Formats: sequence, structure tokens, C-alpha cells
Amino acid sequence: MIEKIKEHIEEVERFNAHTLEEAENFRIKYLGKKGVLNDLFAAFKDVPNEQKKEYGQTINRLKNLAQDRVQELKERLADAKADEKRYGDLSRPGYPIEIGSRHPISIVKNQIIDIFSRIGFNVSEGPEIEDDWHNFTALNLPEYHPARDMQDTFFVQTNPDMLLRTHTSSVQARYMENNKPPIRTISPGRVYRNEAISARSHCFFHQVEGLYVDKGVSFADLKQTLQYFTSEMFGKSKIRLRPSYFPFTEPSAEVDVYWGLETETDYRMTKGTGWLEIMGCGMVDPNVLQNCGIDPNEYSGYAFGMGIDRIALLQYQISDIRMLSENDLRFLQQFKASF
Ligand code: PHE
Repeated sequence: MIEKIKEHIEEVERFNAHTLEEAENFRIKYLGKKGVLNDLFAAFKDVPNEQKKEYGQTINRLKNLAQDRVQELKERLADAKADEKRYGDLSRPGYPIEIGSRHPISIVKNQIIDIFSRIGFNVSEGPEIEDDWHNFTALNLPEYHPARDMQDTFFVQTNPDMLLRTHTSSVQARYMENNKPPIRTISPGRVYRNEAISARSHCFFHQVEGLYVDKGVSFADLKQTLQYFTSEMFGKSKIRLRPSYFPFTEPSAEVDVYWGLETETDYRMTKGTGWLEIMGCGMVDPNVLQNCGIDPNEYSGYAFGMGIDRIALLQYQISDIRMLSENDLRFLQQFKASF
């Protein structure tokens, strides 16, 4: 008899329930009206006197154990049920979290910022909706300059003095107004031009412009910086400067980098010449310094500007600039970067 009770004790100790229903069935089996314990208590009267003491103690132990076990299981399962409402089923494996990727424009922009920050350039930003002064007038763009033509610039209809900036040189004008030389800053950002959208051009794109103003800054400094940049960015340090014209720089130049003619793609990209045009640059026109409150007799500076989109197309061999703004996940998911 006592052996039987001990078996029950073992069973109670081993028992585990996964649902409240299982726990309740367990309670009914042991503690219910027709349960094991009631039967055992009923049998007490037939137990020989000399065993009564041990028998009584053992069933009491079983009863206490069973009660504790039921209570413990019910509490635990009720808690889990409440959590389930709050968080869903916590025992299920987690969902795989989809890790996003950076946009190629951001990757290239961050690379450029990183390269220039290593030689002491900070990053400056300005508004995309700009006034005439910062986008044109301060930058020595005379009123008759073709870049001011309605063809190229998006003006704000209700205020002809306001426009969508056509280049981030506007940020440089603002920066010079608010900071004293030495100035070393790059200005990345989105710009807008009223151009027909095609595989090669878009009505909005991105630029990074650089500006260095200090005493005695020379064209040689500019060339050295550009060479440093192209070798860090593309692994190519052979560059050439072709004379050009920008209203805000004098002298001005276009920068070509020697890309090489190793592959068929190189031929196609460089139209068989091996050279690729990557940016415009020049020495800041003294009028511009003057307009922005810097004495051109004391200071000189250089500036350069490049299109981020164009560099992204080159780096990743993307054939259509529109891909960069179409938000096609199949395209975007291909870009992974630590930048
Ligand atoms: N702002 C010029 C452009 O948008 C680029 C440039 C910047 C050229 C600085 C010279 C110096 O094309």
C-alpha cells in the first residue's frame, strides 16, 4: 500500500503540463472528488494500526506535493498565456530580420566624405530651395549667363528670387559668409536641373563640391588634392586638367582621370580614349571671395565639384541613371557596404 503511494509521489514529482487544461486534468486525477487522494483517504480505515502513522504521513506528503504542483503549474501557464497575448508566442523561433542595404549614392557619398575627411575637410550642408544670391549672384554668375536660363533652373513660381539649387556651390557661398579662413569643406547634396530625363541625365542628381580657402592656396595644391582623391577613390592617379570655364573660378579646368583600356567596358565607358571626365574645378574667383566677405588680397582658394550619381554609375557599371531613383528592390539589394 505504502509502496503504491510512493509511486504516486514520484509521478507527481515528475509531472509537467504544457497547457492549463493538462494541469486541470492532473488536479482532478489527484485532488478531485473521485481522485486518487480521496480513494487513499477512504482506504485509511482498513490500514492495520501499526502502519496507520506511516500511511497517514505518506498520503499527507502526496497531498501537499500534488497541491503545490498544481498551483505552481497553473500560475506558470497563466503567466505564459498573458505573455502570449502581449508578445505572441515566445517559445517560437524568431523571425529572420531582413537587413537593409545602403543606396549606391550613399555609399559613394560616404566614401568621398571619408577620403576628404582624412585630409582635414569637414562636411557642410545647405538648403535645397535656395535664393538667387547664393546659387548665382554671389558665385559671379552674371544675369545673362545661360545657366540662369529657365531651361536649366527650376524656379519657385510664386517667388522668382527662389529656386531649386542647381549645384551645391550655393553651400560654399553660405559657408564662406559664415566662416573665416582657413576653410576646408565639402558639400554633398541633391541638386536640380530642368533637363530631359534619359539613361544619362536626370532632373535631379547629387553633387559633392569642395572648397579650400587660406593664405597662399595655389593651383598646385588643387592638383595634388585631386590626384590624392582619384587614387583613393578609383585606385588611379593619372589625371589631366583641361582648360574650361566656370563663372566662379578663374582659371578653371575639367578633370579627366585615366581609366585605362584594359577591358571592353573601359573602351565603351571612355569612348576608346581611356580618359573619363569626372569633375570641374578651378581657383575661386576673387569676386566670389569678395561677395562672401573674404578679402581676396589676403586669401586665395580652390574649388571643385563632381556628380555623385555619375561616379556611382562608373563604380558599379550601372548603365541607366534612372535606376538610382526607381527604388527597385532587385536593384538596391545588390549593394552592401560598410560605409
Ligand atoms: N558647380 C559646378 C557644376 O555644378 C562644378 C564646379 C564646382 C566647378 C566648383 C568648378 C568649381 O558643374
